[in-house]
Amino acid sequence: MNSSMFLAVVCLAIAAAVATNIPVKDCGSKLATIDAIDINPCSSIPCPFKKGTSVNVTIDFTAKADISSAKSSVHGIIASVPVPFPLKDSDACHFMKCPIKSGDKVTYKNSVDVLTAYPEITVLVKWEIVAEQDVICFTVPVKIVS
Ligand SMILES: *[C@@H]1O[C@H](CO)[C@@H](O)[C@H](O)[C@H]1NC(C)=O
Repeated sequence: MNSSMFLAVVCLAIAAAVATNIPVKDCGSKLATIDAIDINPCSSIPCPFKKGTSVNVTIDFTAKADISSAKSSVHGIIASVPVPFPLKDSDACHFMKCPIKSGDKVTYKNSVDVLTAYPEITVLVKWEIVAEQDVICFTVPVKIVS
């Protein structure tokens, strides 16, 4: 395989990898830059969240500051009102390595339970990792389905 062919194969592989990432909106990440976000399963937008299942959320980011502790904060925005989404464990450091140094590439992996009691609505989910300021903030449209 010559080098330009090799490059083409590598580019295709990268394009395929990126295509599996979810198009999310950054809503004010300050202490880090989002590199990639994966929501699994999420076959289309809005992400169908099936009741009685759990959904994995993986955030790859590059820190722009030192971070020693942080909390996860998740809201569902319903008719412009942010409604807190309860997490079993809001200590973000249990889902990524801490402390974080500026420049570190970090993977945060968490999951949410989609309770059967949830109403079947489409909701904008806002996910934040919060230290002194927002480390990460992104929003993604979600549809609760049965
Ligand atoms: C979510 O993550 C857990 C733990 O890593 C794994 O066992 C499970 O298969 C994942 N679920 C999906 C839908 O990928």
